[in-house]
This record gives sequence, structure tokens and C-alpha cells, in this order.
Amino acid sequence: MKYELVEWSPKILVGLPNIDAQHRQLFDLAATFAGDGDQIRVLKSLAILTEYVKVHLREEEQMMAACHYPGLEAHRQLHTEFRRMLFTLLENAKQMTLDEIADEVKFLINGWFYNHILVADFDYVPSVKAAAATPTP
Ligand SMILES: [Fe+2]
Ligand SMILES: [Fe+2]
Repeated sequence: MKYELVEWSPKILVGLPNIDAQHRQLFDLAATFAGDGDQIRVLKSLAILTEYVKVHLREEEQMMAACHYPGLEAHRQLHTEFRRMLFTLLENAKQMTLDEIADEVKFLINGWFYNHILVADFDYVPSVKAAAATPTP
């Protein structure tokens, strides 16, 4: 699937500071792949990116489960797909040129992930806010 490649912008703020900070961090990290670099540094950045993504997706899934978001299963599947794409890149990166790696990171973060935030992440926000507004007994 093809996505338009988009830089981080306030358009993708979901209004949950913790989540927004994590999203921003992933875009900032992805931006470091463009331009010059050496293989070792790029592979390290890729490992860090994968780790941050894992942490973010896990926290989001815990948050959605905690507020009984009805779309949790479908959202989880999207996360699984994203993790799989990232792990594939991580596995293949040693045989790829730095430009190829940078292109793939762009596709994953500035394409897939951007679109995921706009469509899937925005969808859970009302459930999270409703749960936060309900006093716990
Ligand atoms: Fe997210
Ligand atoms: Fe998500």
C-alpha cells in the first residue's frame, strides 16, 4: 500500500499528552535517518526506533484495554502488522543500503504510522477521555 509521506504536525495531536509525546519522539527519531550516516549508527538507531515503537504500542494497548475501548482487537492487529514490518526491516537492514533503510523508515513512520494515528489512534480517544471523566467507585 502507498501512503503520502508526511512530517509530524499538530494535525496528529490526539490530545493525550503522554501519547502525543511518544508519537513526536518517533517522528524525531525517524528524521535522523535522512542524510549521511554510517551503517553502525543507522543500525543502532533502527534498534532504538523498534524498541520505542514496542513500548508505545504496548502502552497504547494497555490504555485501550483499561478503558474498554470496543475497537481494541482490530487496533491490536494493526499494531501487530506494524511490529512485523519493523522487525522485517531490522532483520534485512544489514543487507540494505543506508538510502534503502531511510526510505523504508520514511514509509513506516511518515506514511503508515502517520496514517495510523489519524485514523486508528484518533478513534480510541473518546473512549479514553470518557473513562478518565468517569469517577472510579
Ligand atoms: Fe499511537
Ligand atoms: Fe495505535
